[in-house]
Amino acid sequence: MRVLIGVTGSIAAYKAAEVVSLLVKAGAEVSVVMTQHASHLIGEATFRGLTGNEVRVDLFESGTKRPIHIEIATQHDVIAIVPATANVIGKIANGICDDLLTTVVLSSKVPLIVAPAMNEAMYLSTAVQENLAKLRQRGCHIVEPETGWLACGQEGKGRLASSEKIVEIIKEVVRRTLDLKGRKVVVSGGPTLEAIDAVRFISNRSSGKMAVSLAAEASSRGAETVLVTGPISVAYPCSVKVVEVETAQEMRTAILQEWQDVDCLIMAAAVCDFKPRQVFDGKLPRSRGLRLELEPNPDILAEISADKGRRVIVGFAVETEDEIERGKAKLAAKGLDYLMVNNPLAEGAAFGSDTNRGYLIDKHGKVEEIPLMTKRELARKILDKVAAQLSSID
Ligand SMILES: Cc1cc2nc3c(=O)[nH]c(=O)nc-3n(C[C@H](O)[C@H](O)[C@H](O)COP(=O)(O)O)c2cc1C
Repeated sequence: MRVLIGVTGSIAAYKAAEVVSLLVKAGAEVSVVMTQHASHLIGEATFRGLTGNEVRVDLFESGTKRPIHIEIATQHDVIAIVPATANVIGKIANGICDDLLTTVVLSSKVPLIVAPAMNEAMYLSTAVQENLAKLRQRGCHIVEPETGWLACGQEGKGRLASSEKIVEIIKEVVRRTLDLKGRKVVVSGGPTLEAIDAVRFISNRSSGKMAVSLAAEASSRGAETVLVTGPISVAYPCSVKVVEVETAQEMRTAILQEWQDVDCLIMAAAVCDFKPRQVFDGKLPRSRGLRLELEPNPDILAEISADKGRRVIVGFAVETEDEIERGKAKLAAKGLDYLMVNNPLAEGAAFGSDTNRGYLIDKHGKVEEIPLMTKRELARKILDKVAAQLSSID
C-alpha cells in the first residue's frame, strides 16, 4: 500500500506524525507532501525520519524527470489529507491548485481522503459545509472531525478524528480500490423520452445523478464500466464508456449489446412504462386537439433476468407508499439480487437531489434501511454488496 499524506497548516498538524507512524508500522510505503503553512507548525525532518522518504513542499522543485506533481500523483494508491484546513478543502473542492499538494490532488486519479480539523465556527460555516458536500458527492471520503476540546480554547466540533480511525479508513479505501478489477459493470440511468410528435415527448423527472454516481464508483474500483443513459445534464464520469439513448427500446438494445460479458447490471434508469401508440409526423397543431393512446414499453429488467446466469442484478424502484412490501414483490417478480426502493416524496430523496434514502432489499428478503446519504455514498454501499457477491461466486 503506497500512501501519500498531505499535511496542511492546522494546529493539528503534529497529529499527522502519529498517523504516518501507524501506517509505517502497518507496512505501508508512506510519503508526505506539506503545504508551506504546515511547515510553520511541524518540521519536515519529523516526517523524513518517520518515513525514510524526502518530504516535498515546493511545486517548482527540480530533480525529477517529469514535473514533481505528476511524478507524485502517479506513485500512490491513495491520498489522505491529514489534517485538512478549511483553506485546502476550499481549494480542492473548487479545482484550485496553487501549491504542490493541491496540484498533486488535481492531477491524481486515486481515491482521496480528507480529515478536516479546524475550530467549530470555521467547520460549521456554510462555505466549508458546501465545499465538503461537493467533495463527498464526487466520491471523496471525509473523515468526520470529533467534538471535544479545541485548540482555540473552546469545546466544539472540529477536532481531528483519532489517528486509529483515520488509518482504518485509509486501509478500507485501499482494499476497495480494485475490488471490481476484471469485472464489467453496466449502469443504466436517466429518463427515457417517448415521442408524441416531432417536437413533443413524454418523460419523467429522473436526473441521472444516481446512475452517474454508480458508474463513477464502479470505475474507481477498477471495473470496466458502461453507462447507458437517457438524456441528462449531469457531467459524465471520465474512464466510463457512455452510450446515449432516448427511448426505452433503444435502452433495451444498448443493454443487450453489452449483456454477454456483463458481471453486474444496475438498472438505475427511470424507463418510461408507457409510450404513445402512434408518433405523429411533424408538429401537431394545437387546433387539432390531442387524445393520447399509450402502450406499454418493454420491461427490460424482467426480460433480462430470465437470462441472468451468474450475473448480479440490482434494480431501483420508486414507490410513494408501502415501499417495503411493493419493493419485495418487485424484487421477486424480476428475479433481482438487490432492489433499492425510494420514495421521492421523502425529504432528501426527491428527483434531482444529491442525496437519497430508502430501503435496500436483498433476494433473501432482508431489508436494510438506508438513512439520508449522498448518492455517491449509496453507490459505494451498493457496490460493496455487489463486490462481495461476485467474489463469493468465484
Ligand atoms: C497557529 C495556527 C493554527 C491554525 N489552525 C488551523 C486549523 O486547525 N484549521 C484550519 O483550517 N486553519 C488553521 N489555521 C489557519 C491556516 O493556517 C490558514 O488558513 C492557512 O492559509 C492554511 O494554509 P494551507 O491550507 O495551505 O496549509 C491556523 C493558523 C495558525 C496561525
